[in-house]
This record gives sequence, structure tokens and C-alpha cells, in this order.
Amino acid sequence: MSIVRDPALAPGGERKIRWASDHMPVLCEVRRRFREEKPFAGLRIGICLHLEAKTADLAMALAEAGAEVSLAGSNPLSTQDDVAAALAEAGIRVYGWHGATGEEYDRFVRAVAADRPNLVIDDGGDLTGALHDVPDLAKAVLGGCEETTTGVRRLRAMERDGVLRFPMVAVNNARCKQLFDNRYGSGQSVWDGIMRATNVLIAGKTVVVLGYGWCGKGVALRARGLGANVVVCEVDPVKANEALADGHRVMTSLEAAGLGDIFVTVTGCRDVLRRPHFELMKDGALLANAGHFDVEISKPDLAAVSTAVSHPRECVTEYLTGDGRRLYLLGDGRLVNLAAADGHPIEIMDMSFAVQALALRFVKENAPSLGARVVGVPPEIDEEVARLRLRALGVAIDELDERQAAYLESWRE
Ligand code: ADE
Repeated sequence: MSIVRDPALAPGGERKIRWASDHMPVLCEVRRRFREEKPFAGLRIGICLHLEAKTADLAMALAEAGAEVSLAGSNPLSTQDDVAAALAEAGIRVYGWHGATGEEYDRFVRAVAADRPNLVIDDGGDLTGALHDVPDLAKAVLGGCEETTTGVRRLRAMERDGVLRFPMVAVNNARCKQLFDNRYGSGQSVWDGIMRATNVLIAGKTVVVLGYGWCGKGVALRARGLGANVVVCEVDPVKANEALADGHRVMTSLEAAGLGDIFVTVTGCRDVLRRPHFELMKDGALLANAGHFDVEISKPDLAAVSTAVSHPRECVTEYLTGDGRRLYLLGDGRLVNLAAADGHPIEIMDMSFAVQALALRFVKENAPSLGARVVGVPPEIDEEVARLRLRALGVAIDELDERQAAYLESWRE
């Protein structure tokens, strides 16, 4: 039995899913093939992803491929109750509602684990962790796929410590994921979230981007496109040089703290903005997080420097500091693009979720030979998804002829 906020919300969710579906030609083609081939017939698939319309499309593709699908949201604020209701009505087992408490969130993820999945798709590693807490459940898992940077980091730590029990494909690291989803997806959706949450002008503001991985690069690039002055803070000296070469100012986070109008954390690490930064920030500074967990902007430290907390807008928390400044935390410090908007653009998730679907089939077909390791996405899957997308766009590209292909393989000339 599904657990959703209100089954009567289903019609609104169905409309959202249809709109997403109509803009996902790559996943649509994979879905058509899966419908014919039924690659997951007789298998149970457990999913923990942001529960919104694009994710619903992936879940339905897997169900049409013959699987029994259970799904929990991967973040308490990204779950859209109407989409959850529509999916439940479509026969997917759904556990989750928007605004779940920490306890409820855990219960929903554990409910997916308790459905004894044979394959998993995770975003952030919570479902994988829940399955590892119960050896009997982990034993039934052939393997799975991980969507995001933080999840892959946690999986690698499990592998290093010798506790990983089944193979996990690092979908996050696929070319068709990282180059598009992390960079252009975050680049657009983070600003979508910040603008929807606040309705403020970005042009002319000083935007401080903390972290210059693929997501940070996208966020900084689009901030500049919106007319902001961009400052980048980064601990990796190579990436810091990359940010300089891309034309951004680079400095320490404490130097940037007093300059920024808008701060965006995209590091995957904890306590990136903390008390010493809050003490230096300007009145009215906006604080947004685009990393997986709500640990990048220290909420305990924000509370510690504040004398009053209020909510001037739906996705904005105002912290009034002892010296009278107002610091505004967006989306409760959770992924701002999902807490205050609809996540990445549809066409971006079309590619990411097509990679997910094909990588999951790869795991199912190859699990015994993969071992309990973190494995990469086979390059053929990346190529297939890229080609399907070009075909959907009506874009043709050149092919190497035989002489050219041979030349590239040769060391004689
Ligand atoms: N929509 C569904 N999953 C998402 C993700 N991982 N990031 C952004 N938007 C999403």
C-alpha cells in the first residue's frame, strides 16, 4: 500500500507527468524498447529519487519493463504530493510526502527497502544504506545505480571500508549525466529556485559560488549570464585556477563573506558557511544550497547568531542577528532547485534518466561479474543516449571513414 499525502491530488500530478513525458524523447524511446523486451520481468526495483514528474516517468518506464516498482522521495522538500498521488494511482508503490520530518523520511526509505528490491536506483545513498542495515535485504539485491556526486562519494567510502555488498553503477559520472545535468541542469534550476523563492533581481548582484565542480561551474556560468558579479571559493587549487581562467574572481570564503549578496553552496561538504561567515555578511544576504544534503550552510550556527526567526515568504527563512542584520536562508538549506522549483529542466533529466534506465539493465545483465564495487557507466550507454538525443533533435553528425578510424588506431603515422 502506498503512503501519500492525498490520493485526490492525482489528476494534477498526471498533468505534470504528461507534460514532462512529452519533453523526454530519449526516455520515451528507451521506454518503448523496454515495453517490448520486458528486461525487468519478475524483478522488484526500489527507487529513492526526487519525487517529481520526471522521476515518475522513469518509474513508469521501469514498471512497463516488467518490474514491480517501489519509490520513496530522496529529500523531504522535493516530493510533490500531486505527482506522488498520480504515481500511486498508476500502480507504483509510493512512500512519501512533501515536508516529511526526518523520522518520516527514514520510514519512507526503509519502506522501499522492506519491499525487498532486486535492483535499486538511489540518489544520495540513503536507500543503499538502509539496505545494508539489514543483511537479508542486501543479499537479495543484484546491484543498482547511483544518481549523484554525494551518493557516489558515500559508495566509494563503503567500498574502501569493505562493507559494500553489491555492485553500484556511478551514473553520476557518465558523460551524458555530468556534462549536462550537473553543469547545465544545476546552472538553470538553481537560479530558477532562487528566483522563484525570492523574486529578486540577479543583475548587478555579487554572487558567491562555493565549490567549482560541474554543478558549481554551471551555477557560476548562469549567474554571469544573468548579469551578476561572480566570486568563486574553492579548496582544490586546480579548480580554483579553472575558475580564474573562466573569468571569475577567486578568494577565500571569509574574504567573500562580506562581499556577497547571494551565496550558493555546491561543495558536497559540511559547514561551508558557518558562524564566522554569518558574522561578516551584509544585511539582506541570501543563502542557498545546491548540494545534496542540508549541511553545507550550518543551520545550528545560523540559529546561534540569531535573536528571531521568521518566514517572510514560503521558501524563505529570515534570521535576525543580534546586531540587527537579516540573513535569508532559502528552502531551509535543502537543494534550492528542488525545494523552491521543479528540479533540473525536463530535457536534462531525459538524458540522465535514460542513462539510469540503460545502466540498470546493464547491472541486471552483468551483476555477477561486476563484484561488490562502484563501477562506471559503460561508454556504449553514454553514446547510445547521446545518439538518441541527437536523433530526437534532428541533428546529424559526421562519421569517421575506414581510413580515418584506422589512422586513429595506428602508431606508425
Ligand atoms: N529531478 C529528479 N531528480 C533530480 C535531480 N537529481 N536533480 C535535479 N532535478 C531532479
